[in-house]
Amino acid sequence: MRKIVAGNWKMHKDREGTKAFVAGLMELSVPEGVEVIIAPPFPFLAAAVEQLGGSAIVVAAQNCHQKVQGAFTGEVSAAMLKSIGVKACIVGHSERRQYFGETDTAVGEKISALLENDITPIYCCGELKDERVAGRHFEVVTAQLNAAFAALSAEQLKRIVVAYEPVWAIGTGLTASAEQAQEMHAHIRSLLASYGEAVASSVPVLYGGSCKPDNAAELFANPDVNGGLIGGAALDGKQFAELIRIAGAH
Ligand code: 13P
Repeated sequence: MRKIVAGNWKMHKDREGTKAFVAGLMELSVPEGVEVIIAPPFPFLAAAVEQLGGSAIVVAAQNCHQKVQGAFTGEVSAAMLKSIGVKACIVGHSERRQYFGETDTAVGEKISALLENDITPIYCCGELKDERVAGRHFEVVTAQLNAAFAALSAEQLKRIVVAYEPVWAIGTGLTASAEQAQEMHAHIRSLLASYGEAVASSVPVLYGGSCKPDNAAELFANPDVNGGLIGGAALDGKQFAELIRIAGAH
């Protein structure tokens, strides 16, 4: 299965910063079998797509609205993203769940809207610290996946990417150990298999949460870890390039 290194820029960088980062990225030789994705803020998506031209590097959005169009001030539809050449979109990130009240049902609808527009949804799941401490992490992730995937067919599910991001590891410097990541990724893989073997073997499962060049090798080496969704380390060209190199080596 392909390895993916995806950078979630969150609310960082400006127009010039985006341009400089993309220029640096275009200099890299991306290892075979590695897909590189960057997710800049909305205002810089179109310029990033244009600058990348025919490059295989994918530009992703960080969110979209589930409806086709309408009176939803401040929102952006999947069709709008498609019209500017966006090929992937993060949905259900814990920051959107926590600060913007995004529910599993809304996330499921966003996945459908994206697939209808040929945009790859990068679906985020993961437990809170209290849930991990209470030993409820498998239960929580199972419930998140089942709620978001309930209305989707196996054919649709085959076209998504899952990112396991334990909330306690995001931006904290705490990373899931290689064992913790592998056991959850294997669990997610078995849940995907309940929608069909073809789903389990088609869907990359990425790890996210303080993933950096110094811990990426041991995370990416696990059989069910198909790459990373990177926050902080994806903002720095050198660190992001190193993560891409490491993904190619595992
Ligand atoms: P950090 O890599 O900064 O912990 O962020 C992870 C993340 O939230 C990616 O979506």
